Amino acid sequence: IAHFLGDGDTEKGDFPHHMLKEIYEQPETLANAMRGRLEADNATAHFGGLNLGAQQLRQIDRVVMTACGTSYHAALVGEYLFEELARVPVEVEYASELRYRNPPMDRNTVVLALTQSGETADTLAALRESKRMGHTTLAICNAVGSSIAREADGGVYLHAGPEIGVASTKAFTSQVAVLAMLALYLGRTRHLSSTQGQRIIAELQALPDVIRKTLECHDQVKLVAQKYAGAKNVLYLGRQYLYPVALEGALKLKEISYIHAEGYPAAEMKHGPIALVDENTPSVFLVPRGNVFDKVMSNMQEIKARGGPVIAIASAGDHEVSAVADDVIEIPDVPEYLQPIVTAIPLQLLAYEIALLCGCDVDKPRNLAKSVTVE
Ligand code: G6P
Repeated sequence: IAHFLGDGDTEKGDFPHHMLKEIYEQPETLANAMRGRLEADNATAHFGGLNLGAQQLRQIDRVVMTACGTSYHAALVGEYLFEELARVPVEVEYASELRYRNPPMDRNTVVLALTQSGETADTLAALRESKRMGHTTLAICNAVGSSIAREADGGVYLHAGPEIGVASTKAFTSQVAVLAMLALYLGRTRHLSSTQGQRIIAELQALPDVIRKTLECHDQVKLVAQKYAGAKNVLYLGRQYLYPVALEGALKLKEISYIHAEGYPAAEMKHGPIALVDENTPSVFLVPRGNVFDKVMSNMQEIKARGGPVIAIASAGDHEVSAVADDVIEIPDVPEYLQPIVTAIPLQLLAYEIALLCGCDVDKPRNLAKSVTVE
């Protein structure tokens, strides 16, 4: 498939839909996001267009991330990344809210807009409002030369190539990869040691191959889709780094299959959504090995005890999970901060396969636009 994957390629090649092509491009788009930006010698990352001096960078004491839709979910992952790797406090706000909110921000707060298209009206307005108030603004953007890319003080391009499918896929994983690199960069001006930096670089560099391997779950995903395509409601549950991915998995399913889905922090479901659980309401659990594994397992048991079918996205060969879940989709093991990228893949494929079975127009879902340039 390699020759179908060129940057300027807006054709579908051998793929039946742009969305599927874009899902399969992710090993390459992730490599493109990292190309030339990882600096093994200094154990850090660097970016050509940030336009921030070392001193200014050192002074950043808070980041407000703003975005819409899938880009907002990437920003939520960014909150965990920046806090863990850079120890910088982050607030994430929908651009449509931030633009009218006027929150108190001091002069060392940087506003970071995330946008695939660079043209989303609310994100652009939030960026302009932040600039007007005198804040330094940055953008993580895919579309070169777009309004937001031009108006931000500095930024980082994804280099993911055109994304045509209305439901965002490759832009999400690239946004998270860029956020991880930015967190590394900020972290290395603070507490991260050179050894830790080098370890992160090696883990990032391994990612394209890991994603190639992850895509092998597609056959398992197809079987799961056949079993659950008739569902009216689906819950997506994850914790910590995987809570935003639960939100994103639910959004993907809603967008293209019109099945009602809710993403929730797995432990929070007992405060409401668990009331939805019955034998016809499947729950998708994000439960790879990591810090909160045992906690998520017990959340899974709670759903099983109430008769809800459980689909688990789990580390390959995890018998503890397969003993409890009705269906398992296996993914390779990666450090926790990279799990959002890896676990997003089966959720993209699951939404795609279910939407196909429901007879939906995957690339052009009803009522949605690729780029929302009106308020
Ligand atoms: C629209 C698209 C979504 C996208 C959102 C934000 O709603 O359908 O896929 O996530 O806009 O777009 P942006 O270009 O700002 O990332």
